[in-house]
Amino acid sequence: FSPKMLAGQRVLITAGPTFEAIDPVRGITNLSSGKMGFAIARAARQAGAEVTLVAGPVHLATPRGVRRIPVVSARNMAQAVMEQAQQATVFIATAAVADWRPASSAEHKIKKDGSGEVPALAFVENPDILAGVAASERARSGQLYCVGFAAESENLLAHASAKRARKGVPLLVGNIGPATFGQDDNALLLVDAQGHRELPRASKTELARQLVAEIAQRLGTARQR
Ligand code: C5P
Repeated sequence: FSPKMLAGQRVLITAGPTFEAIDPVRGITNLSSGKMGFAIARAARQAGAEVTLVAGPVHLATPRGVRRIPVVSARNMAQAVMEQAQQATVFIATAAVADWRPASSAEHKIKKDGSGEVPALAFVENPDILAGVAASERARSGQLYCVGFAAESENLLAHASAKRARKGVPLLVGNIGPATFGQDDNALLLVDAQGHRELPRASKTELARQLVAEIAQRLGTARQR
């Protein structure tokens, strides 16, 4: 890691969960803490990049020097990312985006009417933000380097390799279990076209710095300055 290794790069990161409204006071979300994404934003900034962090609802402080764009739903996040991706040179998707959202969200609070009847929820699929960005002209022409994450409970290498191909990204990073949501440390499995390597258990702060160095190496910017 060196403080100039991402100088001149514009890094776009998604972090945290998304929140999908059912009505004005209820919704569906998940337990992503946002810690890994925020740590990567801090590390990328410390490596000299200009960093934009599109963050779902989390209570973490914005890392110094990082531009934060707060979003709520997957569709909010997708819109912010599509706009920002036009200028970015690196996209790192750490957000735990809700796979589905309620098909419709009620304008007013859904009332309990005393009859014992329960509301039925129908779902529709959310846009896949990472796959969308990876399929963009900027990414396909090599102007935007895309990195995805995967949280799997078993067969991490196989699932991570498959996900890398399915999402169409050059680098896919697997969270090595047990479940890392909310934890301050993690271990990572990096899968790219050359193969795979493990970053052993360490604090998310330390892993973020190692990951930034790995990305800089793949961009060819690690030893440029
Ligand atoms: O498909 P899955 O959720 O397992 O893939 C995880 C990766 O894809 C993460 O990098 C996550 O941020 C990204 N993702 C996304 N938009 C979605 C679902 C996942 O960007 N709707």
